[in-house]
Amino acid sequence: MAELKLLFKHAHDPAYATLKGYQATGGYEALRKAVKGERQAVIDEVKKSGLRGRGGAGFPTWIKWNGIAKDKKGPHYVVCNADEGEPGTFKDKQLMEQTPFLLIEGMTIAGFATQADVGYIYIRGEFVDAARALRKAIDEAYKAGLLGKNILGSGWDYDLHIHLGAGSYECGEESALMSSLMGERGMPRLKFPHAPLPTVAGLWERPTVINNVETYACAPFIIQNGGDWYATMGASTKNSRGTKIFSVSGHVNKPGNYEIEFGTSLMELLEMAGGMKGGKLKACVPGGSSVPIIDAEACEKAIIGYEEMADVKSMVGSGGCMFLNEHTCIVNFIWRTALFYANESCGKCTPCREGTKWMFQILDRIRRGGGREDDIQTLLDICSQIDGRSFCGLGDAAAWPVAAALRVFPQEFEYFIKNGRSMVESEPALAMLP
Ligand SMILES: Cc1cc2nc3c(=O)[nH]c(=O)nc-3n(C[C@H](O)[C@H](O)[C@H](O)COP(=O)(O)O)c2cc1C
Ligand code: SF4
Repeated sequence: MAELKLLFKHAHDPAYATLKGYQATGGYEALRKAVKGERQAVIDEVKKSGLRGRGGAGFPTWIKWNGIAKDKKGPHYVVCNADEGEPGTFKDKQLMEQTPFLLIEGMTIAGFATQADVGYIYIRGEFVDAARALRKAIDEAYKAGLLGKNILGSGWDYDLHIHLGAGSYECGEESALMSSLMGERGMPRLKFPHAPLPTVAGLWERPTVINNVETYACAPFIIQNGGDWYATMGASTKNSRGTKIFSVSGHVNKPGNYEIEFGTSLMELLEMAGGMKGGKLKACVPGGSSVPIIDAEACEKAIIGYEEMADVKSMVGSGGCMFLNEHTCIVNFIWRTALFYANESCGKCTPCREGTKWMFQILDRIRRGGGREDDIQTLLDICSQIDGRSFCGLGDAAAWPVAAALRVFPQEFEYFIKNGRSMVESEPALAMLP
């Protein structure tokens, strides 16, 4: 399969980031259609489309939108997770810089469907260009009556704000994001079933929908063309519909964002990115740093779909796809990943706070030539103590890559421990040590 550009169709045209240019390609027709009809009709189309959240977990979008109380008794909120902290992922940045109106229209449609009063875009603080593009676009939308009071004469008021984060990975976790947005420390909160869902009690304890940038950006296409039309894309997969943007990086000739239809193979994605650079394919981390690494043999079999990627023991995740060539030392690669998670752990719960540090320290010792015979078993034990036992998903995200690397490439760890050096001729990158 070739690239299938839906969200990115006009991305490289600078006019598309202006209201005039966006409307010239059919922009805002979806919102016009939505506000003329019933709110539930919007949710029904999203249900038909089969859209699943593009932030990582792949949760059905319509269930969140439908979970917001229909009998409104106070403010409702819509939040966009534009934190994009997952290493390897850089698609939301491009979407916001080049297609800001897709996100704004998508969030307005979500706001209409859920009777929201206010929307917030929580954007990663380093994304200055994206924040500027959004600011400009939001101002234009207000002037044109597409945000603010009585949108398109519907009698419905909706405001949209941008909030800049401060670069914490944990603030991409939805409950920590909401804490940060409310001015508290960016730490996660107790989750369902021990606490209400955000759709019941989210921001300021009010019903809140929270979705990723790419998820909202799909909404205008679904409403304009219908959910059934959207669901024709990806129909060859079990339960993944539409397109997905993959940020391809690593040892490839043409790194960048590629939009593909679900059902495309991982090797086709590699081909789009110009194939391998500097050596043969050794491994791939298909969906961002937290998803399990797979070897070249699994890459050959991998089909991009939520269930299909599970068949090769990995995940679609957020779409941060890193291809690694034969000269990559997996021990070094995982050491760097473990350092990231140890640094980003917020410290609230013991398994993650302690476990991420221990994992890093053991990997660091192995890398320095001081590995011990029982280190592999100790690392596996720590992974199982973190996975499923942490307060939020960061713990799992830290354990999965280490456990997978030990499972898929045990010989590399064994060799490093026995010989005090990598079995691969690669840069030790010791300069990166803290
Ligand atoms: C540690 C951690 C970091 C996360 N970072 C992001 C992020 O940067 N962007 C994002 O959209 N989702 C992120 N998520 C997932 C969100 O918690 C949430 O599932 C997502 O925003 C829901 O949107 P969706 O249903 O549209 O995917 C993260 C989750 C965890 C556990
Ligand atoms: S798993 Fe625990 S320590 Fe780690 S980020 Fe979440 S709450 Fe904080």
